[in-house]
Amino acid sequence: RRELLMSGSSLLAGLATSGLALPANAQGAAAQMDREDIRLPPLLDGRTSPIRLQATAGRTVFAGGAPSSTMGFNQGYLGPTVLLRRGTNTPVRIENGVDVPITLHWHGLTVPSSADGGPGTEIAPGADRDIELPVRQPAATHWYHTHVHGRTAPDVYAGLAGAVILQDDDEAGIELPRTYGVDDFVLILQDKRFDGSGRAVYEPSMMDIMHGFRGDAVLVNGQLRPIVRGPRGLVRLRLINAATSSPFDLSLESSRPLLLIGVDQGLLDAPTETGRVLLAPGERLELLIDLRQGEDRLMATSQSSMGMGGMMGGMMGGDAANAVLLTLAPDEGREAAVTSIPQRLPGSAVAIAATGARRRFVLDEGMGPINMMRGAVGASPVMTINGKPYEIDRVDFSTPVGAQEHWTIVASQMPHPFHVHGAKFQVLRNGGREPRPEERGWKDTVLVNGEAELAVSIDAETSEGLPFVFHCHILEHEDAGMMGQFTTQV
Ligand code: C2O
Ligand code: CU
Ligand code: CU
Repeated sequence: RRELLMSGSSLLAGLATSGLALPANAQGAAAQMDREDIRLPPLLDGRTSPIRLQATAGRTVFAGGAPSSTMGFNQGYLGPTVLLRRGTNTPVRIENGVDVPITLHWHGLTVPSSADGGPGTEIAPGADRDIELPVRQPAATHWYHTHVHGRTAPDVYAGLAGAVILQDDDEAGIELPRTYGVDDFVLILQDKRFDGSGRAVYEPSMMDIMHGFRGDAVLVNGQLRPIVRGPRGLVRLRLINAATSSPFDLSLESSRPLLLIGVDQGLLDAPTETGRVLLAPGERLELLIDLRQGEDRLMATSQSSMGMGGMMGGMMGGDAANAVLLTLAPDEGREAAVTSIPQRLPGSAVAIAATGARRRFVLDEGMGPINMMRGAVGASPVMTINGKPYEIDRVDFSTPVGAQEHWTIVASQMPHPFHVHGAKFQVLRNGGREPRPEERGWKDTVLVNGEAELAVSIDAETSEGLPFVFHCHILEHEDAGMMGQFTTQV
């Protein structure tokens, strides 16, 4: 019998207002809710031994619908959670077992460009590539995904992505939940659109490409509204937004505050209470949840394509479909490893000087007569940075490793999640305001709304002549050209 495809009245309401067809049986299935325990990706330990990641085609059933064509690493959808440790060099063999070119980009790792997996490192179907990851940065939650120019959105949507848990001694010295699948959970968020049979489809319209693709439901590790069970104490959630373009506004159903402990590039200097956190595509967050306070639900408000109350809200499916992402349930029988909230965390609150070069990047959406990126003829979106769409042979600037620069990112028509490889940054201001709690600390991706001021630390070396990219992490925008390149010198 069919399992639930869509469940819960709020999700159904969201679907109804989206004007999309309700999958068959969705109404009946709504009665069965939240029965499936969360499944975590398997661990792949790269701390002490070489690892291998093979892109693999799969058929995946999402929430009881018809099987969808998917891709993953070492499995049919998504990939294993790669464990890394600061101070080690992890050899990685990447094999392409699918029929499209791939790369393997380590989003958040500041490694030399030959290991970074940007668009210049394509691996053809049937081919492979050996790299080594010199891990020299603090403990954090990162992720990896394919990054071939012009096809990153469809292939990440299909599942060519996975989580990275990076560990170090500073993090190990703090009493935090860290038993994978017991009190420490990797949660990879992707929204999907479903056809009438419940198959996940990705056929973005011109409007989706321009303003951002929105799914019918947000899946967690490929599951709809799973249950996360943990001991009666603290559990740690590592959230990764792997959606092509949806930002998720996260809060607890109980309205209790969220306890934020980490952002993109690692732990904060102290846990911070906040009512809601916004997680844009590419970003990560670490939260602590106290299960002694009883069952609760993590809600995700998927904002309209124009974001933040834009005028397209009504047209694009309602601007605040409030959906249950997952249920958090205490397991009475289990003893918690961690019951008290740490006072201090290893992150630093010190602002960097940003005395290096000043740069300004204007992100723009437009239409071009032909889509030069994919060779298709006809009017299609052309996305630019400083008026230029991405070209693999154009390098926009060059800068020394170790430079601390001041970047201004301009997103005037709609919010764009700006991301840079080989570097990290602190958000000084965004949209004329102070950074929100989840915009503090070291980051590599930020949802720019208006103008953002960033203090950027250039960390990684150009190797084998390969540049690093910076781009909008709305993957449809990146594929349509909203990306540039730079090189670094030692
Ligand atoms: Cu998450 Cu350039 O990528
Ligand atoms: Cu990246
Ligand atoms: Cu964008």
